[in-house]
Amino acid sequence: MKPENTQLEQAKQKAAQEAIKHIKNNHIVGLGSGSTAAYAIKTLSQKIRNEKLNILAIPTSYQAFLLAVKHGITITTLEEHPTIDVTIDGADQIDPHLNLIKGMGAALTREKIVASATKQNIIIADHTKKVQTLGENNHPVPIEVIPFALTPVNRKIQQIGGNPTIRETKGKLGPVITDNGNAIIDATFGPINNPKKLEQTLKTIPGIVETGLFLNTTNIAYITTNTTTEKIERKQKTT
Ligand code: 5RP
Repeated sequence: MKPENTQLEQAKQKAAQEAIKHIKNNHIVGLGSGSTAAYAIKTLSQKIRNEKLNILAIPTSYQAFLLAVKHGITITTLEEHPTIDVTIDGADQIDPHLNLIKGMGAALTREKIVASATKQNIIIADHTKKVQTLGENNHPVPIEVIPFALTPVNRKIQQIGGNPTIRETKGKLGPVITDNGNAIIDATFGPINNPKKLEQTLKTIPGIVETGLFLNTTNIAYITTNTTTEKIERKQKTT
């Protein structure tokens, strides 16, 4: 691994360690998806063992589920525990108001469901995820779409000024299929000056299941380098 990659991994680990401090005995914990959240899952399993904690977890993806099971974390469901105490998740972009773009791991819909069921949402990310404006550097907004609707949704995104691409991946021909059996459109809009308006507009398009714009869901973000930790806090969830 190149030194800069090692430093990035150390930063992710550091953010995960900070977030894990919020987990207390008997908590129901939401497990985020992605490489940074994976550090939180591993660190949580160590904490559960060391401190003999009684923790039940709700994963936001098949990836998080498999990792949690591998590390001996007990899984529960939203049916059994519709309110989650703390969720720790990653992000692709974070603006100064703690609005996020998520979904480069295609887990955005379950991540948003879990976030909305959570009392305290903690986002962990290395410093490269911090931006002034969401959509900067032409970063796309991942959008989960029912496959039947892909072509009309593509057109409608173009009509509102977006540039959509159906996500494909290595190791499989054709579109990425999410844990919910849907496709992902990555749509660039340039810098998003009014994310709330864009979110509302996208949500009116039939066939769009969910977007990767996470607005007003985050309570705390830990943004790290390998040597520094920045904590950004919002006292109350406003949605
Ligand atoms: C998955 C996500 C991830 O949290 C996001 O992509 C960040 O991943 P990573 O920590 O690997 O950069 O939203 O849908």
